[in-house]
Amino acid sequence: MKKNTVQAVVLAAGKSTRFKTGSTKLLEKLCGQEIILYPLNILNQLKIANSIVIGYKGQAIQNTIRKNFKNNEFIEQKEQLGTGHALLQTMQLWNLDNILVLNGDTPLINKDLINDLIEKHIDTQAAITFVTAHHTDPVTHYGRVIKTEKSIEIIESKDFTKKTEDSCCINGGIYIFKKDFLLKNIVKLSNSNVSSEYYITDLIKIASKQKLKVETIKAPFDHIRGINTLKELWMAEQVKRCEIISYWMEQGVRFSFAQSTHVDVNALIGSGTFIGSGVHILNNTKIGSNCAIEPFSILDNVQVADNTIIRSHSVISDSIIEANCTVGPFAHLHDKTYIQKGSIIGNFVETTRCTLGQHSKAKHLTYLGDTAIGKNVNIGAGTIVCNYDGKEKHNTTIEDNAFIGSNNTLISPVTIGQSAITGAGSVVTDNVPANSLAIGRARQINKHDYANKIQKDRRKKNNPELSFIGATKTQNDIVSSKE
Ligand code: UD1
Ligand code: CA
Repeated sequence: MKKNTVQAVVLAAGKSTRFKTGSTKLLEKLCGQEIILYPLNILNQLKIANSIVIGYKGQAIQNTIRKNFKNNEFIEQKEQLGTGHALLQTMQLWNLDNILVLNGDTPLINKDLINDLIEKHIDTQAAITFVTAHHTDPVTHYGRVIKTEKSIEIIESKDFTKKTEDSCCINGGIYIFKKDFLLKNIVKLSNSNVSSEYYITDLIKIASKQKLKVETIKAPFDHIRGINTLKELWMAEQVKRCEIISYWMEQGVRFSFAQSTHVDVNALIGSGTFIGSGVHILNNTKIGSNCAIEPFSILDNVQVADNTIIRSHSVISDSIIEANCTVGPFAHLHDKTYIQKGSIIGNFVETTRCTLGQHSKAKHLTYLGDTAIGKNVNIGAGTIVCNYDGKEKHNTTIEDNAFIGSNNTLISPVTIGQSAITGAGSVVTDNVPANSLAIGRARQINKHDYANKIQKDRRKKNNPELSFIGATKTQNDIVSSKE
């Protein structure tokens, strides 16, 4: 295939009016990736140089693209006068023989479709080759492809006056043109239509009238779904999500209730891993082999190594969890938490900027912020690291083999030395040297017989006869007032 004769133009200047959010649909994320990046990824994979027409929210679109790709050219369409007008803006950049044009809002296209289109175009030497699909909804907004033996044209849905039920062949919005044809004809586009726009699609009629060859290739509708409305975004995302989950199933990932699970396009999952219902695997999350991500857990930019279990309802972001760990249920790990091999984080534990060394445990009701914890450390239930003094955050270090008793309050900055022990209920304000026992709590006092006295007082107070001084009460009143 002579791909080196093809350059691409991506149309991304439109106003996204039908989106009704005020923002541009092209920066909306579909399975964790901005819509505009989908066609650009495909062009990048096929090594086809491309230019992008920007206009509405153009700077924001350009910034997002620049973060991901280096070599695209940007052309501004100052006024959004239609797709034909958008293509016209790129004329001075047409160096190669064939110009591939993609709508920026069509994220479900794939490499094979673009390859097939280019191949057919070059093999047939057509002036234009474009992608069609079948759509059975008579009120669809896609352009209708009307073919007779001698002619072919696309009529935009707003301009279509005939009965739409008979015309279910639609325009996919993906075209390849011979450059020479475009140079001669693009200036012939007019805007005398219902929308007063210059339609790229009128080029098909122009070629047909000149008896030039116009070819089409068919694609499944799902692959060419355009996104104009929030509903269409939702529908396209369902298709993509299904595609992503099917792919991981083929790689040996078990989804117990796939229809309630979400996996973003850039996430990775190892074989033998179990994904429970309601799980969200977001952004660049990477999960190893033979892991279990139990129901309703959310993982966002997390690395989970092999054989680790994330128990249900855990929320984890921007963190690393090594192999053979257990986290949750109901754990919240965020902001550079690093859980090393064989460690356990239990229920209602929150960590932030925290390292938990190998084979250490924090199993119950704990907050660990800005804390570096060594190996084989036990953090008792209810431990709170007070890392914030109201103005600044401070670090806490807990060295190897230390044992933090239950219900400790560690006032940062503080260091608990190797193999040190802190007594339950301690408020630890000073460093604890290695191998020492620290007890930081009020000493217990036992007052003999004092409980007896208190109990007696209580019994007096609870006597209902005494509590209604001056009033006459029947036995029934007393019973109901107790209830
Ligand atoms: C377009 C086609 C329609 C086809 C459908 C497929 C036209 C006139 N119609 O309709 O036949 O079935 O795609 O998805 O082309 N854009 C610009 N500048 C503009 C207007 C639009 O850059 O002035 C960009 C948009 O940002 C978008 C793309 O062109 O990425 C397509 O525009 P859109 O308005 O979505 O066209 P459709 O109405 O979907
Ligand atoms: Ca569209």
